[in-house]
Amino acid sequence: MEKLHVDFAGMRFPNPFILASAPPTRTAEMIKRAFAAGWGGAVTKSIALEPAKDLQPRLRSLRYRNQPIGMENIELSTTWTLEDWRREISEIKSAYPRRPLWASIMEAPVKKNWQRLAEAIQETGVDALELNVSCPHGMPSKGMGAFIGQNAELTGEVVSWVKEVAKVPLVVKLTPNVADIAFIAQAAKEHGADALCTVNTVSGLIGVDLDTLAPLPAVGGVSTYGGYSGPGIKPIALRCVAQIARATGLPVSGSGGVAAWEDAVEFMAVGAGTVQIATAVMWHGYGIIENLVQGLARYLDEKELPDATSIVGAALAKLVEFPKMPLEPRVLAKVDETCNGCLRCVVACRDGGFQAISGVAGERAAVDAEKCDGCGLCALVCPRSSIAMTSCS
Ligand SMILES: Cc1cc2nc3c(=O)[nH]c(=O)nc-3n(C[C@H](O)[C@H](O)[C@H](O)COP(=O)(O)O)c2cc1C
Repeated sequence: MEKLHVDFAGMRFPNPFILASAPPTRTAEMIKRAFAAGWGGAVTKSIALEPAKDLQPRLRSLRYRNQPIGMENIELSTTWTLEDWRREISEIKSAYPRRPLWASIMEAPVKKNWQRLAEAIQETGVDALELNVSCPHGMPSKGMGAFIGQNAELTGEVVSWVKEVAKVPLVVKLTPNVADIAFIAQAAKEHGADALCTVNTVSGLIGVDLDTLAPLPAVGGVSTYGGYSGPGIKPIALRCVAQIARATGLPVSGSGGVAAWEDAVEFMAVGAGTVQIATAVMWHGYGIIENLVQGLARYLDEKELPDATSIVGAALAKLVEFPKMPLEPRVLAKVDETCNGCLRCVVACRDGGFQAISGVAGERAAVDAEKCDGCGLCALVCPRSSIAMTSCS
């Protein structure tokens, strides 16, 4: 598995898969189990000078056909003290001295607090500090998390304070909940960030209970905005990674909706040197590392790529501003013989498109080439992948 090694901000990872700061990195015992399972690195649950007191319950899923497809949390930083974490980190580092372990730290914008926290944590032998200036819920009302990361000036200031005392690389974890993430990323870079991570969770409101009309997750009958994670945020995360990788040229750790090795390849292609995962591990356990590692290794072999690093940024040259998008080639929908006449494409094209597809139940649908506008709606609603968008020429 030598070809899965990645170098990131001066650290060598056995593979690019890192446990993101979240419940799976809550204790030394958990992180050591994850390392034993093969994870390439880990970021501790965010540590602050004061331990937090968590709400119960604090998780809620968005479901489709009774399966979770997204998750919102209103969890805060760690409920442990700084001393607890100094002990836990030392324990992990003595068991796994060469496996990169980052400590996530967060505070309100008070210089002496950030510096005290950074100094106390780095003494434990941690490999990097990840500055959480991106948590969108709970912490911002205390001047922490996204309160800082939504303000370029404040972000720069905090990074420069920690940089003054840092003896290890600084990874700045950015929020997607901003108008221009590249602008914030630039501020982090200018003030001393060695690497960036994005995205933290997307600010959301997961739902409302139909019986009580209380927003969810309800705690004593009330709720608040939370942080949305999992597969649904992947497009937002990919966009953010691409934007900050391009704008800064810094190493980027990509996070947001990674659940399979294919997702990781996509993140790496748009500029992520490593990928971080939280929700998929919470849903399926540390064991997913096996498929992640094997899938990525197989992909590299099949594509005859020398190593994982060769993927990093490979898609960026093909990512252009809208005015540079070509009007050619034109495409048309083509239905193949696997069509079973379910008529979903007919309905979609009739009411959401160009009335270009006709058919009767149980028979292969037919495309009117004169009317088809090549939008691709029929192909995406087809449950059997029986429709392809093919070149007109
Ligand atoms: C329950 C939960 C708690 C989290 N706690 C933290 C945290 O303490 N610090 C942090 O930087 N990010 C935290 N995150 C955000 C994750 O690290 C990650 O950036 C985000 O969930 C997107 O990745 P995912 O889609 O793989 O979950 C948390 C996420 C979840 C789901």
